[in-house]
Amino acid sequence: MLAFDLLKTDPDSHARRGTLTLNHGPVQTPIFMPVGTYGTVKGVMPRSLEEMGAQIILGNTFHLWMRPGLDVMQSFGGLHGFEQWKKPILTDSGGFQVWSLGAMRKISEEGVRFASPVNGDKLLLTPEVSMQIQAILNSDIVMQFDECTPYDTNGHITTEDEARKSMELSLRWAKRCQAEFTRLENPNALFGIVQGGMFENLRQESLDQLVEMDFPGYAVGGVSVGEPKDEMLRIMAHTPHRLPAAKPRYLMGVGTPEDLVEGVAQGVDMFDCVMPTRNARNGTIFTRWGDLKIRNARHKTDHQPLDTSCTCHACAGTSGVSWEQGGREGFSRAYLHHLDRCGEMLGPMLTTIHNLHYYLNLMQEVRDALDAGQFTAFRAKFKAERARGV
Ligand code: GUN
Ligand code: ZN
Repeated sequence: MLAFDLLKTDPDSHARRGTLTLNHGPVQTPIFMPVGTYGTVKGVMPRSLEEMGAQIILGNTFHLWMRPGLDVMQSFGGLHGFEQWKKPILTDSGGFQVWSLGAMRKISEEGVRFASPVNGDKLLLTPEVSMQIQAILNSDIVMQFDECTPYDTNGHITTEDEARKSMELSLRWAKRCQAEFTRLENPNALFGIVQGGMFENLRQESLDQLVEMDFPGYAVGGVSVGEPKDEMLRIMAHTPHRLPAAKPRYLMGVGTPEDLVEGVAQGVDMFDCVMPTRNARNGTIFTRWGDLKIRNARHKTDHQPLDTSCTCHACAGTSGVSWEQGGREGFSRAYLHHLDRCGEMLGPMLTTIHNLHYYLNLMQEVRDALDAGQFTAFRAKFKAERARGV
């Protein structure tokens, strides 16, 4: 099941505040969804995710199909029991991940043929197979199997003709996904994905045809695929607000904190991105005052926490009181710099907790601002603070 209650709309932008109710519980929107590709948000225990306020996390059809495989998944009754996460899960369909295999794959009308990166087995992923796997995973939100249209393939920018062919293939696959999802009597919710590359007319056609098929929710895919930033912003300004107001809207694979706030203003309800988790492992920290690189030697003796305004476990210890509020329990930049230099696993665990907390808290602040009718003021304050510098 899926119910979406639109609680409030911002009069000065396309921003909305809502509640999405799924089989494993409610989700307050706008929301950021941490990425748990292999059935784990890397380095973070489910109880820590809950503590940070995560309401829904991602999993991946393709990766979980390869390892541990469907027999194991089935024996646990799906992904929730296996990974011990009780709240909602969204699974991506495998379209994007197979696409990332590059030369190892062959796309046809039927689906995508590829050699397993794990053992070399020849495999075929089709819209039907993706629906069958996602039914076994029992994810609350199932994504259609699509082709993520590339922006650039080895220096060749995708033409309108190529983008149209790809978009139309994704539409035919959407129909097959819907038929198989229905046949399987999956009790969860299937989302269609708008494609069309960087072409507004194609985005509109894709959107119109998906809306005609009447999905319970819609995603915008094929962005953040190597295009220049202004191109991404152009598609973000075009597509989301044209989707049905009464259905949830999900912008796939985006983005920076600034992209999230801009996406909300453009009418997006749901986001996912590897950026907070991946960047944490590479030592790039998001803070209220801008980004920080923990590997930089200037942090070697710094007693301050990563973000003086943050109440996460890394910045505020067990007190939950930020430095700015007078707390002094956080792990210091000097300590996190040291853990990184020594390759200690606590380092990326703490930086991941902080970055995810930053993203989740940012969305909480967005929701609070929308509830209070203060979103425009919040946007301006957010931009100014982020530009200040750490
Ligand atoms: N993740 C990021 N972009 C996409 C997309 O276009 N399609 C799918 N399935 N997943 C994505
Ligand atoms: Zn923090």
